[in-house]
Amino acid sequence: MQISPSILSADFARLADEAAAVPNADWLHVDVMDNHFVPNLTLGLPVVEALLKATSTPIDCHLMIEDPDRWAPAYAEAGAGSVTIHAEAAKAPVRTLRQIRALGARAGFALNPATDVTQYEDLLGEIDMLLLMTVEPGFGGQRFLDVVLPKIRRARELVSRHGGQIWIQVDGGVAADTIERCAEAGANVFVAGSAVYGTTDPRAAIDHLRALAESAPRPGGAI
Ligand code: DX5
Ligand code: ZN
Repeated sequence: MQISPSILSADFARLADEAAAVPNADWLHVDVMDNHFVPNLTLGLPVVEALLKATSTPIDCHLMIEDPDRWAPAYAEAGAGSVTIHAEAAKAPVRTLRQIRALGARAGFALNPATDVTQYEDLLGEIDMLLLMTVEPGFGGQRFLDVVLPKIRRARELVSRHGGQIWIQVDGGVAADTIERCAEAGANVFVAGSAVYGTTDPRAAIDHLRALAESAPRPGGAI
């Protein structure tokens, strides 16, 4: 069970300090938005490069951009540990996922809430992490969408049939009152923005979220 706090809810003027505030994080989740794929604009490669110099926590880049085929390899080349592209945006996902891996990063593939996962079964061999959005992408602090839970279960079944190595990440509205449902459905990497950086003690919030995820029943009743 891994926790990836999203710096979207952190203080952008103090990113190095905000990274240091979560030494118990497995990853730092960085939301790159271009105001085309989603109606919000955040940050890009220069900020990721600066953050990589400022922290030893691996960077988990979530690219919510229109042309990930053009931009994703540069994030892997810069040293991000994981680079995730959206299924709805990529025009050549197999090529781009392979480029990400060839550059030494984990290849992530993200699906919006309404995007079916079963159509991507044949691509599982190209993917290190499936990101299932549990809000419509674009903003932090939105309400968790329960409607995605059956898809998390379906994704876990597909991944198990495929050997079980692929991580399943959930992103959006993940907090103390929703994380157990996600874990029980089969997620094992949890992005949390407001539930970490919106609290007075981000480090303690991560420990709490991790404990809840670890104590949730495993999918299908497995131990
Ligand atoms: C939303 C982003 C999320 C966001 C989550 O499009 O992808 O990573 O930071 O924020 P919370 O945890 O507040 O829903
Ligand atoms: Zn995200």
